[in-house]
Amino acid sequence: MGRIIAITNQKGGVGKTTTAINLAATLAEANQRVLLVDFDPQGNATSGFGIGREDVNNTIYRVLTGECEIEEAILMDVIENMDLIPADMNLAAVEVEFADQDNKNLILKSLLSDCIEKYDYILIDCPPSLGTITVNALSAASSVIIPIQCEYYALEGLNQVLNTISIVKQGLNPDLVIEGIVLTMYDGRNKLSQQVVETVKQYFDGNIYETLIPRNVRLAEAPSHGLPITQYDSSSSGADSYRKLAAEVMSKGDAIYG
Ligand SMILES: Nc1ncnc2c1ncn2[C@@H]1O[C@H](COP(=O)(O)OP(=O)(O)O)[C@@H](O)[C@H]1O
Ligand SMILES: [Mg+2]
Repeated sequence: MGRIIAITNQKGGVGKTTTAINLAATLAEANQRVLLVDFDPQGNATSGFGIGREDVNNTIYRVLTGECEIEEAILMDVIENMDLIPADMNLAAVEVEFADQDNKNLILKSLLSDCIEKYDYILIDCPPSLGTITVNALSAASSVIIPIQCEYYALEGLNQVLNTISIVKQGLNPDLVIEGIVLTMYDGRNKLSQQVVETVKQYFDGNIYETLIPRNVRLAEAPSHGLPITQYDSSSSGADSYRKLAAEVMSKGDAIYG
């Protein structure tokens, strides 16, 4: 049965979408069947695969509101072994539209249960907030990956994510685990980057991926070409690092879930 991984941190710009796109692509490259769910109204995981508004009829928003079936929103084989459910701005309305609905936090979970058998990994790219959208993702997930950017304020606001995770664990999803912290935009020449790694290691005590995602301009360029790093520049340090992360995710999963 597939693992559902939410990629979350309520801070913007820390590398959530870059990690979602490129972890999905490197897992797919390793012959895993992957579904990437774009769950951010900004739709960056959608556009990052070169999918524009004109290519999309059904979105995750329409699935959530019951306007279409989940199967109708899945774009098949966006790259080999990887399907995608796109998002657009409409998704933002969920925060208010679902406010009074019973079980508003469990809608994604019940929808994904229909297709979990088909995939080894379902990755959910979360928005930079901790509202209904993110809580839906955390309720549906078996685990969470938290990207942290190697910069001065790296740990600031982290308590809020951890707190939200712990609230979801207490009620909606007792089995949720923190899969790991991934440090992004690492610059080995920069003392600050090294200090952040040390601080985060102390704080999280072992729950950190060994793979450090370097600051790599090819990773930043790839989305504007509509390609994951594996296709945009397969031999870049960025591609290399996400392949290593995918290998860790695959082997760590065996340890977490048996
Ligand atoms: N490892 C990296 N090296 C260089 N640029 C990066 C890297 N990771 C992310 N970026 C860039 O930083 C910005 C924010 O990343 P993004 O993945 O969109 O963050 P989030 O989804 O958390 O808001 C984007 O412009 C992205 O291209
Ligand atoms: Mg994003």
